[in-house]
Amino acid sequence: MTVAAPARFDLDAPVLDHRPVAPGIHELTVEAPGVAAAARPGQFCMLAPAAADARDPLLRRPLSIHRVADGGRVVFLYRVVGRGTALLAARRPGDLVRVLGPLGRGFTPGAGPAVLVGGGMGIAPLLFLAERLPAGHGHAVVLGARTAAELPGLDRFEAAGHRLLVATEDGSLGEKGLVTGILEGLLEEAAGGDGPALFACGPWPMLRAVREAAAAKRLPLQVSLETRMACGVGLCLGCAVPRPSGEGYHHVCREGPVFDAEAVSWEAPPP
Ligand SMILES: Cc1cc2nc3c(=O)[nH]c(=O)nc-3n(C[C@H](O)[C@H](O)[C@H](O)COP(=O)(O)OP(=O)(O)OC[C@H]3O[C@@H](n4cnc5c(N)ncnc54)[C@H](O)[C@@H]3O)c2cc1C
Ligand code: FES
Repeated sequence: MTVAAPARFDLDAPVLDHRPVAPGIHELTVEAPGVAAAARPGQFCMLAPAAADARDPLLRRPLSIHRVADGGRVVFLYRVVGRGTALLAARRPGDLVRVLGPLGRGFTPGAGPAVLVGGGMGIAPLLFLAERLPAGHGHAVVLGARTAAELPGLDRFEAAGHRLLVATEDGSLGEKGLVTGILEGLLEEAAGGDGPALFACGPWPMLRAVREAAAAKRLPLQVSLETRMACGVGLCLGCAVPRPSGEGYHHVCREGPVFDAEAVSWEAPPP
């Protein structure tokens, strides 16, 4: 039996909309019908700020698929941190951006309740997952950031129809503190029943704390990992992260970015 290769597209995609949604954070919408149809929550694309014939910057940058929308639209939510994202931020509606994707393995939710946990830009892939989970099934979304301004698009999370809980470190929105504080309360509420499955994306210290909370309650957890990526398709081997107990390496672009939490080593953050 032959296994079909996953659908993947490499195209110059027209920018349909591109706007700042918070200080230093932009939402980019491109027209890429094939990518939109094939994408699954947790997958990502490699984006270059210019069309195929441009070489600046040479390497594309990985961005999670934030959501897909009617009309073959694919939406990305990203923070400008360096040269690649700054050049991307200069693209205007009508410009082309080079898009390779969808890439990697995404989240695999089961039939039971889910708790989505996102910190900082880790909220980006979780909206797509929240929108794909059926409302009214006991799912919850827990989001956190340093301050309220760093949590754009909460209305869309609300519209997904799940219980939404928010934490900010400065107390400007929701509970003052970290997402893990809210998560522990939620897991106490769930104690005794069939616990939820957890799905997390965010900074490494947050992921490690979520993993400890999940392990303490013996709950399944899938985490989306970030590494520096050069190719995004398994060729450069630059995105390696160690497996537990020195059992070799995963390549995040190909075997991830979403992993079962117990399949990765938690001793040190990815390089
Ligand atoms: C699978 C995946 C999905 C991602 N999804 C998103 C997303 O949806 N939204 C978003 O804002 N960002 C996302 N990132 C991070 C994003 O790819 C980087 O911020 C971006 O590549 C930086 O490129 P740059 O040229 O602007 O910065 P560079 O000049 O390359 O780097 C500037 C600074 O950013 C840091 N940096 C670079 N790459 C990463 C990275 N992968 N993770 C953490 N820090 C990094 C560098 O250490 C440096 O301090 C994702 C990364 C991965 C691997
Ligand atoms: S980024 Fe090149 S192998 Fe993963």
